[in-house]
Amino acid sequence: MSSLFSPIKLGPVELPNRVVVSPMCQYSADDGSATDWHMAHLGMLANCGAGLVIVEATHVERHGRITHGCMGLYSDHNEASLKRVIEHCRRAGTAKWGVQIAHAGRKASAQRPWEGGGALKAGEDPWETVGPSPLPFGPGWHMPRVATLQDIAHVRESFVNSAKRAVRIGFEAIELHYAHGYLAHSFLSPVSNHRTDQYGGSLENRMRFSREIARAVREVVPKSIALGARITGNDWRDGGISTDDAMAHAKALKADGLDYIDVSSGGVTGDTRNPTGPGYNVQIAERIKKEAGITTRVVGLITAPAQAEAIIAEGKADMVALGRGMLDDPRWGWHAGAELGAEVERPPQYLRAAPKLWAPAQRVAKAS
Ligand SMILES: Cc1cc2nc3c(=O)[nH]c(=O)nc-3n(C[C@H](O)[C@H](O)[C@H](O)COP(=O)(O)O)c2cc1C
Repeated sequence: MSSLFSPIKLGPVELPNRVVVSPMCQYSADDGSATDWHMAHLGMLANCGAGLVIVEATHVERHGRITHGCMGLYSDHNEASLKRVIEHCRRAGTAKWGVQIAHAGRKASAQRPWEGGGALKAGEDPWETVGPSPLPFGPGWHMPRVATLQDIAHVRESFVNSAKRAVRIGFEAIELHYAHGYLAHSFLSPVSNHRTDQYGGSLENRMRFSREIARAVREVVPKSIALGARITGNDWRDGGISTDDAMAHAKALKADGLDYIDVSSGGVTGDTRNPTGPGYNVQIAERIKKEAGITTRVVGLITAPAQAEAIIAEGKADMVALGRGMLDDPRWGWHAGAELGAEVERPPQYLRAAPKLWAPAQRVAKAS
């Protein structure tokens, strides 16, 4: 029996398997609102065989977006447009739905990747960014304004408001984006946070920003909805977040009421490079799962069904997330199920393509 395709309870939410679609920005929103692209893209992923799909980084305020095309949950229109897409996906597919809520911090005001991926230039409608300290993400990036205590409270409130919108839309899971160099990660990492107030210095102080948001959001997210965070497992550079720090962060967030942790890594500055080997975050996730004792998902170059199966079967993580692999093969879950001998739910319209039925055809093909 497949471990990958065994059910799991993610906090209060029952999922039929442990395959998750990782959040992936599409840079195709209109002032934060979902568009026809999201109908097609998320509609496609609704039938990828994953138990849970996490909607891309969806920003808690307009100035917290990465690009002009990024999603948001800061207006009634944003909320209505995303609700429409999720309702469509539920009618069309089998997956359950989560949303990642985010603030880009000093990595905001950027070009879409296919338009350069750097900081927006004059004439491209750039905006002022905020960060823990006056340190840009890299050469050519905007110098962030140092977040005041008022800004910090405002961002926290924005996370709470977006979480309320996500609850109204009916998501089964809400995920806080605490990785990839965006605002919360930039507070956590000593590379980007040089503050001397209660939000800087010791690890406890640097975790204060993300912990306060986690607690405030937990208060408005009912216990029937899973609340988690994507954290950075390692900054992959000297003087940055180590796996021990990530462990402390995971433990603290568990105490703050989160149901799960997703382990990603890297991205604190423009010049950091992640390892490029298969499953490069798995060792970190294994430590967090065992030592922090929280439901743990792992992401990063997990592409083959046997690889994903082994991660779960060997107890290294509770769930796996796939990003690029799912864009490349949006029926990955169906194909992995077939390879691992597991039944994967599919909509009745597509039942005739189920493996049971194509197996004899393959036999005929082999015989001839
Ligand atoms: C097109 C694209 C958009 C992404 N956008 C997000 C995002 O919105 N939030 C996030 O946490 N990670 C984002 N990521 C990172 C992925 O979620 C994932 O962690 C990363 O691609 C590594 O997993 P993979 O090797 O399975 O692709 C994005 C990756 C890609 C390729």
